[in-house]
Amino acid sequence: MRPWPSGKAGGCNPLIPGSIPGGRFMHKILLKLGRVEEVDGKKRVISKEERFTISDTSKDFHAAFCIVPQAFLETGGKTSIKGQEFVCFPANKADVFNNLKKGAQSITLKDAAFVLGQLGVSSKSVMLDAGSGSGASACFFSQFVKEVVSYDVSEENISVAKKNAARFQSENIIFKEGSVYTDVSEEQFDAIFLDVPEPQQALSMITQKLKIGNLACIYSPNLTQLKEVIAQLPEALHHEKTVEVNERPWSLKNQTCKPIAPDIAHTAFLCFLRRIL
Ligand SMILES: C[S@@+](CC[C@H](N)C(=O)[O-])C[C@H]1O[C@@H](n2cnc3c(N)ncnc32)[C@H](O)[C@@H]1O
Repeated sequence: MRPWPSGKAGGCNPLIPGSIPGGRFMHKILLKLGRVEEVDGKKRVISKEERFTISDTSKDFHAAFCIVPQAFLETGGKTSIKGQEFVCFPANKADVFNNLKKGAQSITLKDAAFVLGQLGVSSKSVMLDAGSGSGASACFFSQFVKEVVSYDVSEENISVAKKNAARFQSENIIFKEGSVYTDVSEEQFDAIFLDVPEPQQALSMITQKLKIGNLACIYSPNLTQLKEVIAQLPEALHHEKTVEVNERPWSLKNQTCKPIAPDIAHTAFLCFLRRIL
């Protein structure tokens, strides 16, 4: 037997182990607090802070050197186990997003948030997303718009994406199997996000399906490919900008402030096109 919740907008997804009655996941964050002690007059890190996202609070959690009991995960708060302090609290949507089962090519939180802001969507918008991949981009966008229609040519990937949508509690994503270059059956979209191998093949679809004045974003790690897209732009599409979004975390410990990772990892370029005609 495979239980299903009653989702709306075709976004029904099977319940998966770890969900609580009603089809809702109760994700929790378990934080193992770092321990600093004074040894020979100097402060020494005895153990580093560690963070775990717990998606199944119906059983004990096995940490490296101790077992965190299920009852504590359920109630949350602060506890000490074998001299090590833990705190446990509900996870938010960003925590759950970061904990989705993703492929190497899934969109990151920094890029997804930037895309959403630049596309200028609202709670009334209907968005096209392709390819679904692991569903990360569709899940992120679904929090802020009315509906996301997500296409992928791979049935297998759609199945992964649907499981992530259930984990993320998204009920406004419609997953469709088909090519975004040729098979989009909907009339119009308020915004389009494309993360597909050959975005230049989607230009004609964008010209037909994007509302005039609105934006599409092409997500690609490859600048040469984006140059090809720009070279082939039809008159109706205007290249607004192509950007890279960098996130640089800083350490604010003790007396020193410095970037934690001086080398910034490249994810992808974001190319924004506007339908002007
Ligand atoms: C990099 S992944 C997308 C990742 C996704 N945006 C995410 O955040 O998880 C690219 C996807 O495009 C799909 N794809 C390839 N050609 C396509 C096409 N013509 N139409 C729709 N999807 C396509 C692939 O099957 C793959 O799942």
